[in-house]
Amino acid sequence: MSMAAYAPAGAQRSVAEAADRAGSSVSFDRVSVAYRGFVVMKPLTLNVEAGEILALIGPSGSGKTTALRAVAGFVRPASGRILIGETDVTDLPPYERGLAMVVQNYALFPHMRVEQNVAFGLHAQGAPKNLIADRVEDSLRIVGMSTYAKRYPRELSGGQQQRVAIARALAVRPRVLLLDEPLSALDAQIRRSMVEELAKLHRTLPHLTVLYVTHDQSEALTLADKIAIMQDGMLNAHGPTADLYRRPPNRFAAEFLGRANILPVFVEDNGSASGFAKVQIGSASVLAAASDRPNGSKCLLCVRPQHLALQPEGSDVNTITGTLKDVHWQGELTHLVLDVADTPVRVVVTRPPVLPPAGSAMKIHFSPSDASLIPEDAHV
Ligand SMILES: Nc1ncnc2c1ncn2[C@@H]1O[C@H](COP(=O)(O)OP(=O)(O)OP(=O)(O)O)[C@@H](O)[C@H]1O
Ligand SMILES: [Mg+2]
Repeated sequence: MSMAAYAPAGAQRSVAEAADRAGSSVSFDRVSVAYRGFVVMKPLTLNVEAGEILALIGPSGSGKTTALRAVAGFVRPASGRILIGETDVTDLPPYERGLAMVVQNYALFPHMRVEQNVAFGLHAQGAPKNLIADRVEDSLRIVGMSTYAKRYPRELSGGQQQRVAIARALAVRPRVLLLDEPLSALDAQIRRSMVEELAKLHRTLPHLTVLYVTHDQSEALTLADKIAIMQDGMLNAHGPTADLYRRPPNRFAAEFLGRANILPVFVEDNGSASGFAKVQIGSASVLAAASDRPNGSKCLLCVRPQHLALQPEGSDVNTITGTLKDVHWQGELTHLVLDVADTPVRVVVTRPPVLPPAGSAMKIHFSPSDASLIPEDAHV
């Protein structure tokens, strides 16, 4: 996400500076985790820069929570080191690591008012009363919950409870905020507005490093500076959000970050000289972004449905021909499914023209820079 210029209020600035001073980058240095001798996270090396929002995504059981738990200190790595800033925290207990974690189900104390919940971590640290009062007020203001300080959790909506959970995490002024599917229990509409709130929160606290685990690729795309995709306890892909979306390194990454059309192609020229690769799809020859796939090899062409367009009459630039199979109208968007050289291809359009009947031939085209080449193998 972009770091818009923002002048935080005094108290907020002090939170940000505290994080900055201590150094808030997170480094996994060949970290593996085993439960009862069974390795669930293979050696992971990954750096999260100070102030970055990293989204950790991947299928269920791929090791996302395990990675967070290792940073938090709730599970001890079988090998490797974890650094926060310059400090090796591998042997430190959770409460000495300067971080806070928010999980899916809020975990607020039901018998405590909002303000007591937020104060909990500071009480546990033995912080003085006036400092606790300041921090509680500050943290509730950051999440927009100041007027709810006297309520009990049961008197709040799910989204409000989750904001209190985030305020409680912020009250201890963590260097690193670990969020494990914090929005997944909320309905779609509240989730969208909470994503915007989290983006705002991060503009208020730009030095706070955030590791954000989610199943929801749109949350990841909206919030994250970088994305790490986990698969079977391993890092499948890692990179700046837009790069990973536009140039996924493999099929798994392409399909995990949104819909992708993946077509088998033959590489005539990988474009290392010209900047654009030339590939064959069936009998058609089209251009795609340059790639390191070898000339004369088979690979896959990846192009997102919204980057395909129906070809106007008479034009043949970067065009492939398919057979119309299906049309799904979804209100704002219409999805067309075509068959191109025996591969289903999805085209998303906002204003479909009058369409021919199913079974008709249709031409579609794309801009070469919107299409990338990926290896045939699903794994890197
Ligand atoms: N305490 C535990 N004891 C034994 N195995 C565990 C334990 N916690 C997790 N695992 C296993 O470790 C693997 C990774 O689990 P993890 O919770 O990290 O997955 P995840 O990516 O967070 O999945 P989800 O999206 O479902 O939350 C899974 O195979 C899981 O069964
Ligand atoms: Mg999990």
